[in-house]
Amino acid sequence: MTDAPIRILQLTDLHLYGDAAGRLRGVATLAALESAIAAARASAAPWQALLLTGDLVQDDRTGYARVRALFGDSSVPVYCIPGNHDEVDAMQAELAGPPFQIGGTARHGAWTLVMLDSYQRGTAAGRLSAAELARLDAALAVAADRHVLVCLHHHPVLAGSRWLDRSGLENPDALFEVLDRHNNVRVLLWGHVHQSSEALRRGVRLMSTPSTCAQFEPYSDSFAVDVRPPGFRWLDLHADGRVETAVVWVGEALEQPSERRARPA
Ligand SMILES: [Fe+2]
Repeated sequence: MTDAPIRILQLTDLHLYGDAAGRLRGVATLAALESAIAAARASAAPWQALLLTGDLVQDDRTGYARVRALFGDSSVPVYCIPGNHDEVDAMQAELAGPPFQIGGTARHGAWTLVMLDSYQRGTAAGRLSAAELARLDAALAVAADRHVLVCLHHHPVLAGSRWLDRSGLENPDALFEVLDRHNNVRVLLWGHVHQSSEALRRGVRLMSTPSTCAQFEPYSDSFAVDVRPPGFRWLDLHADGRVETAVVWVGEALEQPSERRARPA
C-alpha cells in the first residue's frame, strides 16, 4: 500500500437524455456534462475511481447509452448509484459489467466505499430499506480496521430549502443510527440537492456536490435555479483517514488548468 491518496472524482445529477440535444431547465445536459469532464481532466486528473451519485438520466431509459458512450472505456471503475430520476432496470441492463459497478462496496487502499441505494419507485424522496441498512451495518463491521466513505443519492440532512427538503431521505435517523454504531466512517456524501455543502457530524464529514448541469439556489423556500455553472467534486482519501476535497465549478477549472487545490466546498 502506498502513501499516495486515493483520488475519487464525483460527478452527480447528470440528467442525460438519449437525445444529445436534450435540455433540462434550459441547460443542455450532455454538453454541460462534457464541459465538467473536460474541466475535471484539466484540473483533477488522474483519478482512481469515478463516482456517479444518481440521476444519471432524466426519466429517459435511452440516456444510459450516453453514460456508456462517455465512460464505457474508462480504465478505472465507474461506480453508480440510482437517483429518483433513474430507471433502475434500464440502468442495470445498460451499465452491466466493468468498468461499471452499480451499488455494493469497493476497496481502494486503506479505504472502503459503500454505495447505498435510496431509490423509491414513484416518489422523488429517498428511503433506505431495512436490507440496505443491514448491508451497510455489515459492510462497516467488515471494514472495522479501514476508513469508509458512504454515499447515497438523497440528502440525509436538511438542505435548508423547504421545497427540496420534502424530497430528501425519509429515514435519516435509521442511517445515522447505523453509522453511530461504528467508528470508521469518515465521509458521508450525496447528490440530489444540486448544490455544494459541507458540515461535520460526530467526526464524519457530510458533503453534497453540485450537479454537472443546472444548480438549485441554496436556502430558497420555493424551487429556483441558481446561475452557477456545472460543477463536480474530487476527494483525496489518505491512508491515515484524512480527506482533502474540493468542489470545482467549470469556469473556475478552466481558468486554473493546473490547479489541483481548488476552493474548499
Ligand atoms: Fe438531480
